[in-house]
Amino acid sequence: MKIYKTKDYDEMSRKAANIIAAQIILKPDSTLGLATGSTPIGLYKCLVEGYEKGDLDFSQITTVNLDEYKGLPRENDQSYYYFMHENLFHHVNVKPENVHLPDGTREDSEAECAGYEALIRSLNGVDIQLLGLGHNGHIGFNEPSDQFEKETHCVTLTERTIEANKRFFASADEVPRQAYTMGIGTIMRAKKILVVVSGEDKADIVSKAFFGPVTPEVPASILQMHPDVTLVADAAALSKIPD
Ligand code: F6R
Repeated sequence: MKIYKTKDYDEMSRKAANIIAAQIILKPDSTLGLATGSTPIGLYKCLVEGYEKGDLDFSQITTVNLDEYKGLPRENDQSYYYFMHENLFHHVNVKPENVHLPDGTREDSEAECAGYEALIRSLNGVDIQLLGLGHNGHIGFNEPSDQFEKETHCVTLTERTIEANKRFFASADEVPRQAYTMGIGTIMRAKKILVVVSGEDKADIVSKAFFGPVTPEVPASILQMHPDVTLVADAAALSKIPD
């Protein structure tokens, strides 16, 4: 695993965006696995700037997002579909037909998850998968559990995740209780993985996930087994890793 320590959030965003930009330049028809959450917002801003300057071309890029709330329509400003369009897709020349997220409005979880997994498999592999890290070690919506979930599936969110995400809703009651997410196996099949983490509140989980035992109780710990992981984190998030 490569670790890049940055002085702050802005430097983390630039460094991680440069890694994705390099991927786009070296392989213009890459499949990018994307994440939502607050951490990648600065990184997406840098990619948009790269596009506006004429340095990046998304015309042959395909994207697959990690996850989506179940039950939220696309036009809900808390849906991940909305988030991705606001922060990236509306601002670059990615083709709408090449953008993929699980369809949160589809009631039939089994059909939606099987279809999404099949779609990802049909893309010849995700070239680089971007991940944020939850306080409980979740990646995508893969919550701590007694086993690693392999494929795209429907999850019931933990109280902690509902608590963490309620800041985006009028109240905790409005946070959807379920979500569709790539599985740990889906994530691990990506050729490269790029994890971005910022802030002192993530320092404990960074040290557990990347330096502790590999266990489904800390889903991100499985990343220790992936052959090509890059962690870009600011000094605060790396403040508790062992020397
Ligand atoms: C988002 C996602 C989540 C977040 C994680 C960290 O698509 O899958 O796993 O990456 O909850 O979120 P932030 O960046 O808001 O701390």
